[in-house]
Amino acid sequence: MAAQISPSILSADFAKLADDVALIADAADWVHVDVMDNHFVPNLTLGLPVVEALLKHSALPLDCHLMIEDPDRWAPQYAEAGAGSVTIHVEAAKAPVRTLRTIRAAGARAGLGINPATPVEPYEDLLGEIDMLLLMTVEPGFGGQRFLDVVLPKVRRAREMIKGRDLPVWLQVDGGVSAETIERCADAGADVFVAGNAVYGSGDPAEAVRALRGKAEH
Ligand code: DX5
Ligand code: ZN
Repeated sequence: MAAQISPSILSADFAKLADDVALIADAADWVHVDVMDNHFVPNLTLGLPVVEALLKHSALPLDCHLMIEDPDRWAPQYAEAGAGSVTIHVEAAKAPVRTLRTIRAAGARAGLGINPATPVEPYEDLLGEIDMLLLMTVEPGFGGQRFLDVVLPKVRRAREMIKGRDLPVWLQVDGGVSAETIERCADAGADVFVAGNAVYGSGDPAEAVRALRGKAEH
């Protein structure tokens, strides 16, 4: 699959989200929305009301990444609101299969997120339940952190698992993805790239997205 770029608005200006999303509308594939509850991660960002508001202003589908303690309760509501993709974390979900099925039934793509120190192998049997596997390449909670190369072998193993089962599951990397690190991620088998600081920390976000795509497809 061709590379897809999902800029994270965690590094955008929260006082003008619609404008900042419009900046990348012609260049990116998704808008990555980091929902944090100050419990699953030590940071608080935004929730369902902001996502509902953003849906009315975004030409691109929203890729909602729920870093929250109770995804089983909240994820279906993001899907019903119209998110294109909803990702829950294995470390937080108590009934992941039910929640993933509910996300899909509401018409969204279902994503499963995995932190750097969580192995992927125990979740191999869930690959048929998901549309995307998200491998965190930083500890979740903040933008602008340094990419963790230690996760790359897991990206390779996840790609092999997906290939072995011949499933159309997208493999997303999130955290520290930049012009310097994206080729390593692509070589390891990732095909959806989240980038916050590398896009919104640059003077020209649309150009930054194009540059990332060029490197991912090298
Ligand atoms: C971190 C978030 C990421 C973050 C990535 O917990 O899930 O989506 O915004 O930001 P960068 O690309 O700056 O590491
Ligand atoms: Zn994220």
